[in-house]
Amino acid sequence: MLGEGSNIVVADAGFPGLALRMRIRGVEVRREGSRVVLDVAAGEPWDALVARAVEEGWRGFECMSGIPGLAGATPIQNVGAYGQEVSETIARVRVFDRARRAFADMDPGACGFGYRVSVFKRSQRYIVTGVRFELAIGDASAPLRYAELTAALSVAPGAQVPLARARETVIALRRRKGMVIDPQDPDSVSAGSFFVNPVVDSATLAQVETRAGERPPRFEAGDGRFKLAAAWLVERAGFPKGWSLGRVAVSRKHALALVNRGGATAAELLRAARAIQRGVGARFDVELEPEPVIVGGSWASSGEPDALKSE
Ligand code: EPU
Repeated sequence: MLGEGSNIVVADAGFPGLALRMRIRGVEVRREGSRVVLDVAAGEPWDALVARAVEEGWRGFECMSGIPGLAGATPIQNVGAYGQEVSETIARVRVFDRARRAFADMDPGACGFGYRVSVFKRSQRYIVTGVRFELAIGDASAPLRYAELTAALSVAPGAQVPLARARETVIALRRRKGMVIDPQDPDSVSAGSFFVNPVVDSATLAQVETRAGERPPRFEAGDGRFKLAAAWLVERAGFPKGWSLGRVAVSRKHALALVNRGGATAAELLRAARAIQRGVGARFDVELEPEPVIVGGSWASSGEPDALKSE
């Protein structure tokens, strides 16, 4: 089941089965007191929805501006950016349940939302056909939590700014990182972040700090755990921006994006990703996990222990 294909890696041999493209469209809007309820068909483009929310004065999507793909894909990996996560706005998810061969409405509690995961990810059981979002009505953004964003806006953490300013600033930041699809920007030829940020305990955090000889950026992840920046680990393990293996490179704008410099195969991409994963593992004893969905192949079987010897 494909949306826009912006977060998948397809095996070179293809996929032995039927591929469907989500094309269901439609947005229904209902006001309920100080909130607005949106029933959005899965095939609606996500960023057009965000743009509309910003224009209409609906708060809750503005920091997730400039993300490619469809609205129906957002619950699948619980899309998040710049301090907002889509699960914070989801009231329910409409699915076709292939096991029961029936449509069902799933409450957020049944969706298993976590950091870049849900029950929909890496499972073939559910096809998301629509999402009900609930947003607050108001012209000011949600309180801004992401340090890079508040710094770019020159406001204090927790400040609120007009929705349009939040959106413009996020898009500018994303563009600088090559995270806005742009035919003029070869660093944007990627699936976005290739690895999820690892969540580690305090002992691992201390070990990373010792081995790196500097304090790693970290974000509190609850239960005494910390989310590390995978991009930072990648660079410090010897894979700086612009590093390349054949036709695959680490983006010159952000160390977490792997870029196809032209003509690279999926096998080459996974080989480079594996090399990075092994390098980070060897340097920091932290295992990076891929973030995109790998179709028609598996990450576990993509290892080529000898791949680097020939380089
Ligand atoms: N950093 C580096 N080198 C780099 C880039 C970043 O060392 O080349 C370090 C910096 O210390 C920076 C930290 O990594 O402070 C975090 O970087 P950034 O703010 O760019 O965010 P990220 O953790 O790399 C995540 C999401 C992005 C999302 C941004 C902003 C994941 C896997 N990635 O990236 O989402 O846009 O936060 O909210 O969670 C995506 O999922 O595909 C994606 C692009």
